[in-house]
Amino acid sequence: MPAEGTTQQFHEAWSHVRDVDGWLTEAQARTLFAAAAAVPQDRAIVEIGSHHGKSTIILASAAQHGVPVFAIDPFADERWGGGVPARTRFHENLQRAGVDAKVEAMRMTSTCAADRWDGRPVGLVYLDGAHDEESVLEDIDRWGSMLDNAGRLFIHDCFSSIGVTSAVIRRLAFSLTLAFSGNVGTLAIFEKRRISTRRRVLALIRLMLRTPYFARNLLVKVALRKRWTRLHRLAGHRDCCDPF
Ligand SMILES: C[S@@+](CC[C@H](N)C(=O)[O-])C[C@H]1O[C@@H](n2cnc3c(N)ncnc32)[C@H](O)[C@@H]1O
Repeated sequence: MPAEGTTQQFHEAWSHVRDVDGWLTEAQARTLFAAAAAVPQDRAIVEIGSHHGKSTIILASAAQHGVPVFAIDPFADERWGGGVPARTRFHENLQRAGVDAKVEAMRMTSTCAADRWDGRPVGLVYLDGAHDEESVLEDIDRWGSMLDNAGRLFIHDCFSSIGVTSAVIRRLAFSLTLAFSGNVGTLAIFEKRRISTRRRVLALIRLMLRTPYFARNLLVKVALRKRWTRLHRLAGHRDCCDPF
C-alpha cells in the first residue's frame, strides 16, 4: 500500500502529464512512479524514448534527490511528430513540471548512449524507443547488462507491437538474469536477479499466458486500420493505441 504522501506526489505528477501527448496510461504511470521512487541514491534511471516527456516527467517526479534521470532520444523521427518540434515540447513540458534540473537529456540513439555510458550503476531502465525487433534486442542486451542487481527493466508496447513482443520472447523468455514479474496492460516488467530453473519455468508460463492478450491487441490494431469499428469495440479497445 503506497504511503499517502507518495500517492499525492503521483497525483501531482500525473496532473502535469495528463494532457501531454504520449501513450503511457495512468495505471502504467503509477507503476513506473513507484518503481522510480524506490531506486536508491547511488543509482541512475535511464529512459529510452522520451517524445514529449510524458514518462520522463513521471520518472523524474518520483526520483529521490541525487538519482539522475537520463532521457535518451535522438528526436529524429518525423513520423510521430518527432524532430525539432518534439524536442522543443519535451523541454517546455519538463520545465513546466519543474523537473528539468533532475533530467539529463541525451540527444542521440540508445546505441550511441550505451557506447558513451560512463559505467555508473543503473537501477531502472524504461524502454520505449525504436520498436523494431533488432533495435529492441540490442536495447535489452546493452541496457539490461547495465542494470544493477535487483534493478528493473520496464518495456512499453510489449504484447501490442510485434517487434517489441518478438524481441522480448526471443531474449527474455529463457533469460537466466531477467525475470518477468508482471505487466500493466502493455507495460511489461522484468527484474534482474539470478533465476532458478523453477522460477524460470514459472516466469515463462506467466509470459506465455499473455499470448491471448497479444493476439487481441493485434486484432484491435488490424480492426482499427481497416476501420472494422464493431470488431474493435467488441475486443474492448482501450489502451492499445500505440502507432507502431
Ligand atoms: C513511443 S515514443 C516515446 C514515448 C514516451 N516514452 C512517452 O511516454 O510519451 C518513441 C520515442 O523513441 C524515440 N526513438 C526512436 N528511435 C530511438 C532510438 N534508437 N534510441 C532512442 N530513442 C529512439 C523517438 O524519437 C520517439 O520520441
